[in-house]
Amino acid sequence: MTMTTKFTRTFGVEHPIAQGGMQWVGRAELVAAVANSGALGFITALTQPTPADLANEIARCRDLTAKPFGVNLTILPSINPPPYEEYRKVIIDSGVKVVETAGSNPAPHLPVLHDNGVKVLHKCTSVRHAVKAQDLGVDGISIDGFECAGHPGEDDVPGLVLIPAAARQIQIPMIASGGFADGRGLVAALALGADGINMGSRFMCTVESAIHPNVKQAIVDGTERGTELIFRTLNNTGRVASNTVSREVVDILKWGGTFEDVRHLVSGARGRTVYETGDLEAGIWWIGTSMGLIDDIPTVGELVTRIVDEAQDLITGRLAGMLAGATAAVAS
Ligand SMILES: Cc1cc2nc3c(=O)[nH]c(=O)nc-3n(C[C@H](O)[C@H](O)[C@H](O)COP(=O)(O)O)c2cc1C
Repeated sequence: MTMTTKFTRTFGVEHPIAQGGMQWVGRAELVAAVANSGALGFITALTQPTPADLANEIARCRDLTAKPFGVNLTILPSINPPPYEEYRKVIIDSGVKVVETAGSNPAPHLPVLHDNGVKVLHKCTSVRHAVKAQDLGVDGISIDGFECAGHPGEDDVPGLVLIPAAARQIQIPMIASGGFADGRGLVAALALGADGINMGSRFMCTVESAIHPNVKQAIVDGTERGTELIFRTLNNTGRVASNTVSREVVDILKWGGTFEDVRHLVSGARGRTVYETGDLEAGIWWIGTSMGLIDDIPTVGELVTRIVDEAQDLITGRLAGMLAGATAAVAS
């Protein structure tokens, strides 16, 4: 049995599950494995140092899967912005048909992506931004709750409220993220009004995720309490693993420090070192509260099958059983 939702129909995938962009993690092997499992994976454009490298990464992914996959384009404020238009051109020229935009308003990218037949799944962290993106004409919304790894926004609204609040106003396909790791989460998201789930942390801890085994083991060993919120005072909150570096960042900013005071601690190069060398204290690395729900390192295929099977068993078993129990009680 498969689960069909507005998301699976619109984006042409088998399962209502996505793997969102992940800096330093969202590479061809992982994304191809997600595609082969029947879910929707996104290569992270800015993990590739140049647009030409992105073209190679997309080609590498194509060699590993015949199924559809997308590219994440994260647009963050920056003093020296990357050449977004060149990355976008590579995506279009490579024939990729879905882009996950994140980080800011997708408006500048929409017309050219749509003109070239590329669907846009916009990731945001608030109902108002979701509604704005829907009004702009994106093809789907990915709404990211406070639980998530990466940037949860500044409103601190967890999925239990954020998802149904968004569902009241979103008519286009909407998937939900932040804290999802298993079939129970998928069923909960569907019940709250989403058409599927997006996961980062859970996919990061799989066989095909090309990061050092120490990081995967740290996720397995970690709990839901093992994250820090950095950059709160800078209005650019990020949820990362708790380690000596992230705790120092929190401390410096708490006492009035500025970005310049923490720049040396939070550099992307240091974070990349964590994933490559497995030195968990080398820099900051992203992980969400779902770390507390992750206790193994399956293949992506095993993971996706398990989530879908568990969701179906839950709907047809435990939940249906409650209704059957109620019916029996009324009848007796
Ligand atoms: C290691 C890592 C790196 C991430 N980098 C990005 C990124 O570059 N752009 C982006 O839009 N989201 C990024 N995210 C967020 C994920 O795409 C996803 O929205 C989030 O992980 C969902 O929450 P979860 O971790 O609870 O599943 C990252 C997440 C992780 C774990």
